[in-house]
Amino acid sequence: MGAVSAMGELIEWLPDGTPYGPRYGDRYRSELGGLAQSREVFLHGCGLPAAWAGQPQWCILETGFGLGLNFLVTWQAWKADPQRPRMLHVVATEAHPASAADVLRAASSHPELIPLAEQLQAQLWGLLPGLHRLVFEDGQLLLTLCIGDSAAVLRGQRLLADSVYLDGFSPAKNPGMWDMDAFKAVARCCRRGTRIASWTVARVVLDGLAQCGFVVQKTPGLPPKRDNLQGVFNPRWEPRRASDATSAWPALRALPGRCVVVGAGLAGAATAASLARRGWRVCVLDAHAAPAGGASGLPAGLLVPHVSPDDSLLSRLSRCGVRATLQQAQALLRPGLDWQASGVLERRLDGSSGLPADWPVAGNDWSHMASPLQIQGMPSMGPDMSTTPACWHQRAGWVKPARLVSALLAQPGIQWRGGIQITRLQRDTGNGSWQVFGSRGEIVEQADLVVLAAGHASALLAQCRLPLQAIRGQVSWGLQTADSTGGGAGFPAFPVNGHGSFLPGVPTEEGPMWLTGAGFARDRDDNRIEAQDQLDNLERLKTLLPTVAAHLAADFNNGLVRAWAGVRCAAPDRLPLVGPVDTAQQAGLWLNTAMGSRGLSFAVLCAELLAARLHNEPLPLDRRMAQALSAERFSGLGRSSTP
Ligand SMILES: Cc1cc2nc3c(=O)[nH]c(=O)nc-3n(C[C@H](O)[C@H](O)[C@H](O)COP(=O)(O)OP(=O)(O)OC[C@H]3O[C@@H](n4cnc5c(N)ncnc54)[C@H](O)[C@@H]3O)c2cc1C
Ligand SMILES: C[S@@+](CC[C@H](N)C(=O)[O-])C[C@H]1O[C@@H](n2cnc3c(N)ncnc32)[C@H](O)[C@@H]1O
Repeated sequence: MGAVSAMGELIEWLPDGTPYGPRYGDRYRSELGGLAQSREVFLHGCGLPAAWAGQPQWCILETGFGLGLNFLVTWQAWKADPQRPRMLHVVATEAHPASAADVLRAASSHPELIPLAEQLQAQLWGLLPGLHRLVFEDGQLLLTLCIGDSAAVLRGQRLLADSVYLDGFSPAKNPGMWDMDAFKAVARCCRRGTRIASWTVARVVLDGLAQCGFVVQKTPGLPPKRDNLQGVFNPRWEPRRASDATSAWPALRALPGRCVVVGAGLAGAATAASLARRGWRVCVLDAHAAPAGGASGLPAGLLVPHVSPDDSLLSRLSRCGVRATLQQAQALLRPGLDWQASGVLERRLDGSSGLPADWPVAGNDWSHMASPLQIQGMPSMGPDMSTTPACWHQRAGWVKPARLVSALLAQPGIQWRGGIQITRLQRDTGNGSWQVFGSRGEIVEQADLVVLAAGHASALLAQCRLPLQAIRGQVSWGLQTADSTGGGAGFPAFPVNGHGSFLPGVPTEEGPMWLTGAGFARDRDDNRIEAQDQLDNLERLKTLLPTVAAHLAADFNNGLVRAWAGVRCAAPDRLPLVGPVDTAQQAGLWLNTAMGSRGLSFAVLCAELLAARLHNEPLPLDRRMAQALSAERFSGLGRSSTP
């Protein structure tokens, strides 16, 4: 047996190069070579690529992601197919994720797969239990990794698969992948006609699948293997599909048409990009002359996960969001200029670690307690710092939101029009389209779909009793000079948060700047600069980073510190609002707003959620999280009496 992986599931490598899992005492792939097995058993077993030809989207469910070979082979076939669906989803379950290095190693005997395996490897990090959305091919190939027991994680998803690969270890060694629980969970994700394939024809599998509504047969295997399994979901009863689970989530599968997005901030730009990627022609309208004229005009902000001892919904949501924004930033922005994955140090001033007690340390590259060395290496923390716990967020950094907005709006299929104040919307009852009116009562645009991403103004435009709150905030910033930084020695090398936040060394045309803030003035929707807010920011900084505050105090007192103010939009539960306004009367009117203080973490994810709901694609979040964000969650939502 060869070397063993350092992190992730323990893999042993047999002398012939086959990966072997000691936990189950079985090989990850047949001794005949994984590639042939993947193509013959799974791809061709499900009638692919022919079955997906000419379809706008396709969804494959795989149980047992393992070393990702089936995924890579499917990706390769999709990429090579001129008839490929525009969007390909692969949703895969895995209880014991292998390390990124082992995934790459497993593909190394197939040179044609290596470039794809390298891209996969780069995204295989932070795979804590739960759902992780990985993005390839400019967002047209989406891999949703569900980490946990297959049956359990599938019960928490909302998806409709067109093909299913069943690929556990052998039923004798890995019975949990082949019991009735597992088959029922798979069947729940199938539509009539979904094709299924596997390499095992064990009696327990044939019988179990048949009981769950699959018509299965043995087909000739690759010699020396006699048989494979192929089947189709065609139950004698009417299947209860995952999409029927709540009436508020109809199986829409909208066809792309013309869409208007109102609001050119992070939420609107991300929505436009997600829809344009799916074939929509999108026009983004905004009252400001330039994009990012609202809260998204913040000079620079933090992209950082939330942590909590019980790993709350907000914490899990923030991780999904941070991953989504990191992917877009990596694809569209210039590191060091528009954003930086610098990591962020969070001071825990209440003395708690903030992290779940049972979080794994090894292989968990999201957040961990900062080492004393890391903290002591930061003179700006002041002498008492070593006694205060701090949390290091590795997958975090700063972003200039306006740069992300511009990059998203520059994607193909998007038209941007500024300086247009939208005053009302009206549905044409004849053809069901929406008319969008400007301030002189003129029709500005007409579209099949309107998405309101207009911050707190969204409620008025939707003519809905949406409980959206405007929350004003102001950041203070200045240029980093030798004087202001105390000769450079006093400044941290990365952003620090925990009581307000401090961002050092953000490049501008005038030189590097520092930035600190911000307060929360509820029910205020003005962005006037206020002297008191500058003083409040300095006070907060004195607690967060006393030495930095001491260096900058003179600049604050001498009026050398500049300011930017903006208005956040938040819902009472501090979660975004994503989904149709009112499914019955206002078909085609959707919302993506209430990003609160975390637009950088939420906007890209919420845009993908909106697009997935609209097209009945697998969601980028588990069902409970997605429901927690739905616009329908506020009772009493409906038309207001305001005209
Ligand atoms: C001081 C401060 C600090 C912050 N720091 C961070 C941070 O560090 N990290 C982070 O993640 N988030 C931070 N945020 C929050 C973040 O800025 C927001 O969550 C995010 O920008 C919201 O994006 P949005 O697209 O929903 O709204 P906006 O960017 O406000 O966009 C809404 C757009 O709608 C347009 N609009 C409104 N009404 C109409 C109409 N009738 N017709 C046409 N157009 C209309 C507006 O002009 C505006 O451009 C901060 C916010 C503030 C104020
Ligand atoms: C044969 S391997 C899969 C090979 C993989 N499809 C590939 O292409 O590389 C089986 C996988 O099922 C996973 N597994 C076993 N029991 C599981 C369970 N209950 N839930 C989810 N995954 C499980 C194992 O960890 C292993 O990675």
